Amino acid sequence: MKKFTKNDRIIAPSLLAADFTKLGDEVSRAINAKADWLHLDIMDGHFVPNVSFGPDVVAQLHENNDIFFDVHLMLSHPDQYIPAFLKAGADLISVHVEAEHDMAKSLEMIRAGGAKTGIVINPDTPLEAAKPWLDQVDLLLCMTVYPGFGGQKFMPEVLPKIAKARDYREQNNLNYHIEVDGGAGPANVAQLYEAGANAIVAGSTTFKAPDMAQAIEEIRLG
Ligand code: DX5
Ligand code: ZN
Repeated sequence: MKKFTKNDRIIAPSLLAADFTKLGDEVSRAINAKADWLHLDIMDGHFVPNVSFGPDVVAQLHENNDIFFDVHLMLSHPDQYIPAFLKAGADLISVHVEAEHDMAKSLEMIRAGGAKTGIVINPDTPLEAAKPWLDQVDLLLCMTVYPGFGGQKFMPEVLPKIAKARDYREQNNLNYHIEVDGGAGPANVAQLYEAGANAIVAGSTTFKAPDMAQAIEEIRLG
C-alpha cells in the first residue's frame, strides 16, 4: 500500500455517504475511482447524536478490500473499542480530545496494535487542546462541521486553525498529516489546501456525485 507524507494530497471518501444496502460494492466503487483512503465514521449515539456501524462491518469490508482504512471514532469511551477496530484491520484510528478517556493510553493502545494514530478536534476546540500530543501522532483531524451527520455545511471559520496547525508543525519540525472532515468538496478544497490541509474527507461530494472518479479528481486538483 502506498505510503503518504504530509506533502501528498490524500482523498478519503467517507463511507457514511455510501448506499448501505451494498457496502461492499460501494467500497469497490471508491477504490476504482482512485480514492487514497477510506474514511469510516464510528458513532455511538452518545458522543454524537447518531449511530453508524461497528467493528464487524469494518472487519468484513477490510477482509475483502485493499485500501487504507482511516477509522474516525466518535465514541465517548474510545478505549473500550480500540482493540476491536485494531482487530478489524484499521490502518489508522483517530480519537477525539473531547471524549472521556486518557489520551496517552488511547494513543499507546493504537500504536501497540500496529496502527497509525490520529487526534481529532471539533470546530470549537482550540489547537492548544491537541498540542500535547502533536509530537507523537501521525495525523491531526480538524472537524469542519460538528460531528454526527454527513451532508452538513462546511464551516470556513475553522480555516485559521488549520493554518495554525500547519505553522505549528513546520516550526516544530513535526510530520503529522492535517486532515479535514465535514462539508468538504470541489467548492472549498482549494482554501483547505491553501490553509495547510493535505488529507480531505469527503462523503456527500464523492459517494453522491454523478461521477465519483471525476469528483475525486476535482477534489485532488483543488
Ligand atoms: C461527520 C463525519 C464525516 C461525514 C462527512 O460526523 O465525521 O466524516 O461523513 O460527510 P460530508 O462530507 O458529507 O460532510
Ligand atoms: Zn469522519
